[in-house]
Amino acid sequence: MKPREIKTGIYCVGAIDWDRRLFDSLIPLPDGTSYNSYLIKGSEKTALIDTVDPAMEEVLVDHLMQLGIDNIDYVIANHAEQDHSGSIPYVLEIYPEAQIVCTPKCKGMLMDLLLIPDESFITVEDKETISLGDRTLEFIHAPWVHWPETMLTYLREDKILFSCDFFGSHLATTDMYVTDGGQLYEAAKRYYGEIMMPFRATIQKNLEKVKSYTIDIIAPSHGPMHDKPEYILKAYHSWAFDEPGNIVVLPYISMHDSTREMVGYLVEALAQRGVTVKQFDLAVTDIGKLAMALVDAATIIIGTPTVLAGPHPNVAYAAFLANALRPNLKFASIIGSYSWGGKAVEQIAGMIPNLKVELLEPVLSKGFPEEADFTALDNLADTIAQKHKEHHFA
Ligand code: FEO
Repeated sequence: MKPREIKTGIYCVGAIDWDRRLFDSLIPLPDGTSYNSYLIKGSEKTALIDTVDPAMEEVLVDHLMQLGIDNIDYVIANHAEQDHSGSIPYVLEIYPEAQIVCTPKCKGMLMDLLLIPDESFITVEDKETISLGDRTLEFIHAPWVHWPETMLTYLREDKILFSCDFFGSHLATTDMYVTDGGQLYEAAKRYYGEIMMPFRATIQKNLEKVKSYTIDIIAPSHGPMHDKPEYILKAYHSWAFDEPGNIVVLPYISMHDSTREMVGYLVEALAQRGVTVKQFDLAVTDIGKLAMALVDAATIIIGTPTVLAGPHPNVAYAAFLANALRPNLKFASIIGSYSWGGKAVEQIAGMIPNLKVELLEPVLSKGFPEEADFTALDNLADTIAQKHKEHHFA
């Protein structure tokens, strides 16, 4: 696509990656993504906000050429991760006069990751500004959105917040702005669950910090821009601050249907008690969907057969991932089957120390579940429904 003008002298010059399906060799991208980069022309200086993934550096430079840009004074690096900073060396080859503007921590990371020399940098403190002549860039230090070095850039006169990963979504679209709120909500919640949720406490602080700015447009570095910023701000506020809902997330594996039978029974028992359940067969599930479900769940129930004396490896992977994502869960339990013993419960419990949960009595069936196992599952469903009620999770 051609570069597009947001306002006079402010352009989208990034790249849409329609076909990428995996990020960090980990995160599924069912809707592709984009690497947004923005060019701002002031009366005296020109700045480029973030670059693009190196795989698409030619797209960025072609956009700059189409706009006839023969000089860039500042490359603003809001974030050192390579999907935004990886094309900086190429941009510097073409615009050797440009200085990189970033936080002191980001400078160190860019020197390490991209081998950029010291003299290429200007570091900025929180709330420091740089003038482009008739336009002013204010830098807002915002650690952990999503690395420790991140900052946001606020274009004062135009009230645009360039937020990089913060408020972003992996969504390839030709639309400059959000046009389908439902689709955006799903993509942004997935993004929050996968990328932001581990840093919930600092997300809360950063949300408080941006409250004091008047913002007409949020321009993230993934997905469409927000010309009605209150929509995404409200969604983020809910994900970061709200108590969990009356929701159980149930990731599981079954090899010979014993665990599947227990899962099916428990899901029904919980639904009968008014609890929402989100069930994920880990043999086929998209882990982004699981991450998204964990954003507002109160309880996780992990279902596993016993394999070689421990949990199924896919279950171990999901438990490790849930532990790393640090969702705001309050309760956890384990259900599953075994044939001759093992340590599945102890091993899974040992994998989730970051989850500050109360562990509820597990239910393990020897072989295919029988009456006593179903009774235990009913008791577990009773306990969960009661606990959710006591905590007013709705
Ligand atoms: Fe889109 Fe943390 O990079």
